[in-house]
Order: sequence, then structure tokens, then C-alpha cells
Amino acid sequence: MELVDAWERYARERTPRRESNARGAATWLNWTQYPDHGPDESILGPLRGRTVLELGSGSGCNLAHLATLGADCVGVDIAPSQRERAVARWGHIPGLTFHTAETTDYLIRTDALFDTILSIFGPVWFTEPEQFLPLIRKRLSPGGVLAFSHKPPQDDRQTVTTLREARAVTRWDRSPEEWTSLLASSGFSQPKADIIPPPEGHCGATLLVTAHAEAGRA
Ligand SMILES: C[S@@+](CC[C@H](N)C(=O)[O-])C[C@H]1O[C@@H](n2cnc3c(N)ncnc32)[C@H](O)[C@@H]1O
Repeated sequence: MELVDAWERYARERTPRRESNARGAATWLNWTQYPDHGPDESILGPLRGRTVLELGSGSGCNLAHLATLGADCVGVDIAPSQRERAVARWGHIPGLTFHTAETTDYLIRTDALFDTILSIFGPVWFTEPEQFLPLIRKRLSPGGVLAFSHKPPQDDRQTVTTLREARAVTRWDRSPEEWTSLLASSGFSQPKADIIPPPEGHCGATLLVTAHAEAGRA
């Protein structure tokens, strides 16, 4: 419950995403902590007709974009109010389902396979990777893609407690090299971790990681 409370507090403090971005689009995918910055959904490959799972889907804005592109999308978030926000804003878009669940529990219980699994500043950053990555790998279909982003580790990192007042959320800060090695040892192929520099005038970069589930290997 402590974890749910922490994320509910976070959800209450968030400013809702704008109605449209700099290009005037009503939906878009944002991998970084900055608006109108970073790559778009094309790093995921084709989306039409694909099944997508977002771990820590928040208010559903990223997933809603993928659903408008023809993907069949499922979002999972531990905070019940996030599901309510997502359904209120995006419930009219076909191919979009939101669940309230802790992602480790969800991955253990579901028998569904997904072509794409993503986590944007989400549970891949907040869950012990040696246990979490194999669970994700099991739920990826052959040839499927995992993609996630978070802030790169800082110099003084170790396992850091975030959400200052809540003190309930642990963050697993890993470097690009550590992620690629962890992914390879968890059964993923072609692991790739890139640092996306911040926009001009900002100082925090973003780490964007992708890996594949090789066909024929589980
Ligand atoms: C920093 S927010 C990012 C939300 C969304 N991905 C976005 O980019 O706007 C992290 C989200 O992950 C959810 N979350 C964190 N840990 C979780 C867990 N173990 N299981 C399910 N959801 C979790 C939180 O409730 C929160 O909505």
C-alpha cells in the first residue's frame, strides 16, 4: 500500500499533458522529460495490428498515441487514479485497455504475449532488473521489442530512494553498458542504450534503451 500511496501522491501533483504539441498533434509519444524533444514512435518499428503493453502507463497519453496508429494497446499502472484519468481522457479511442495492477504481479499472472513492451520513466526503472527483465522477456512474442527510458545515473548514484516525502520508491539506476549487459543475460538480443542529450538550455539527458526477443529463443 505504501507504494500505491506514493504513486497516488505523484499522480495528484502531475500537471496533465497539454491538449496539443508544438506540431499541433493531439497525441504523441514522448520518451524524454522534455516536451517536443527526442525520437518518436518509429524506433518501435511497425505498429499497426501489433499488440503493445505499457508498464506504468500513467494517464495513458503515450499509449493513446500508439492506439491511434492502429496498435492494440494495454496499459498497466499501480495507481488506481491513473487508470481513471486515462479512461476519462482516452477511453473513446478503440484498441486501448487500462488495468490497475503492480507490473510484476501483472506479468506473472498474464498469459498474453505482446509484440512491443514499453516503459517510459516507469517500472523498469523502479523494479529490481535481474528479476524483472526475465518476466518481461517471457511476455514478448518472438521478434518483439522492449523499449524504455529514464534519466541516466548520476555520479553519486547507488540504489536511490526517490519521491522524497514518500520514501517508498526505489530506483535502479543503471548505465548504458550495465543495461546492455543485463538485457543480454536476460535473454534479449540486440540490446542498445543511447543517451539523448537535453534540449538547449537544459542539463539533464535521457537514457533510451531498446532490445529484442530473438525469434526461437525464450
Ligand atoms: C514517472 S511516471 C511515468 C508515467 C508515464 N509512463 C508517462 O511517461 O507519463 C511512472 C508511472 O509508473 C507507475 N508505476 C510505478 N511503479 C509501478 C509498478 N511497480 N507497477 C505499476 N505501475 C507502476 C506510477 O504509478 C506512474 O504512473
